[in-house]
Amino acid sequence: MFPEKGTHEEDVLDELRLKTREDLTFDSGKILGSMCTYPHPFAVKIITEFIDRNLGDPGLHTGSRKVEEEAINMLANLLGLDKGYGHIVSGGTEANILAVRSFRNLADVEEPELILPKSAHFSFIKAGEMLGVRLVWAELKDDHTVDVRDVERKITDNTIGLVGIAGTTGLGVVDDIPALSDLALDYGLPLHVDAAFGGFVIPFAKALGYEIPDFDFRLKGVKSVTIDPHKMGMVPIPAGGIIFREKRYLEAISVLAPYLAGGKIWQATITGTRPGASALAVWAMIKHLGFNGYKEIVRKAMELSRWFAGELKKIPGVKLIREPVLNIVSFSTENLEAVEEELKRKGWGISAHRGYIRIVMMPHVKREHLEEFLRDLREVTVHSIKP
Ligand SMILES: Cc1ncc(COP(=O)(O)O)c(C=O)c1O
Repeated sequence: MFPEKGTHEEDVLDELRLKTREDLTFDSGKILGSMCTYPHPFAVKIITEFIDRNLGDPGLHTGSRKVEEEAINMLANLLGLDKGYGHIVSGGTEANILAVRSFRNLADVEEPELILPKSAHFSFIKAGEMLGVRLVWAELKDDHTVDVRDVERKITDNTIGLVGIAGTTGLGVVDDIPALSDLALDYGLPLHVDAAFGGFVIPFAKALGYEIPDFDFRLKGVKSVTIDPHKMGMVPIPAGGIIFREKRYLEAISVLAPYLAGGKIWQATITGTRPGASALAVWAMIKHLGFNGYKEIVRKAMELSRWFAGELKKIPGVKLIREPVLNIVSFSTENLEAVEEELKRKGWGISAHRGYIRIVMMPHVKREHLEEFLRDLREVTVHSIKP
């Protein structure tokens, strides 16, 4: 019920704390299956200070607009481009929708089709439905990357573009983006890379010596990349990123916003009013941590993943789905549903999907949390798996 009378702030806060006591929090170390994390305190400070900035009306906040452009260029830079065109958006979902929208608008095809791996995130299902684009799912190979030959077989006159994933949601697998890029160039199609998760991991992992193929604008067929600062970028939700190689991809999705207080603009994002503070926080975190700061975060996450994968292999009845590529480790067990239920009952924030449980080594996940989880997993599997 909408209250008639107001209540003191302290009392409201107490009630809110009570009501949210059942929430799992990232600092508890119990959330092992999420791509979000506890944001960096500096980013939280930025959000608080610049909370009123609205990039939906950038004519009012021209300084913030320039900072967003700089943030986009720094991300483009990380992804192998001198200058990029895009926005800090609400997340990977919006970024993927914008890419599909751009490809569709530029293609001028009556019955548009998009070819994407079967491992693609469900945001593309939303994109397809909203934009009237038929999704054509390409098969995966045994190593869980997309079968590029199957992608080629599926290309028709109606194809508006291809999608590759750099860090799949389930397994953190990186598709053969160089081969997809070549294919895209051969057929004159744009390639979108969904690096919502991998974008803030792969460049640093490569610098650390992990062998991961190129996945970004260094490959000429890649025309857009999703890269989410609110995943491994340590920025608070909401902060997704969409970067296009050329301005025309952004122009193809821009509509005129005629009545704004700051003056007319062309707007490409799905959201109108949108948090400028998020873009400022992305800029600030990149400046604050720098390449070396992110590399250190990724180093820890990658090392922990390899250690954890090794420990999983020692547990009878537990099967690693594949050696980790990034900082995601997925495993299956016999009686998976019972195991999942029991682990959840013990308070773990995990879930089983497609026949496995995935653990995402986000910065809030520490070795002691994983040791506790392994103890529980050993106990649960002993009881849940029939001899
Ligand atoms: C590969 C990939 N793309 C897109 C998304 C969607 O991101 P968001 O939840 O920020 O909209 C996710 C989310 O997990 C993802 O893993």
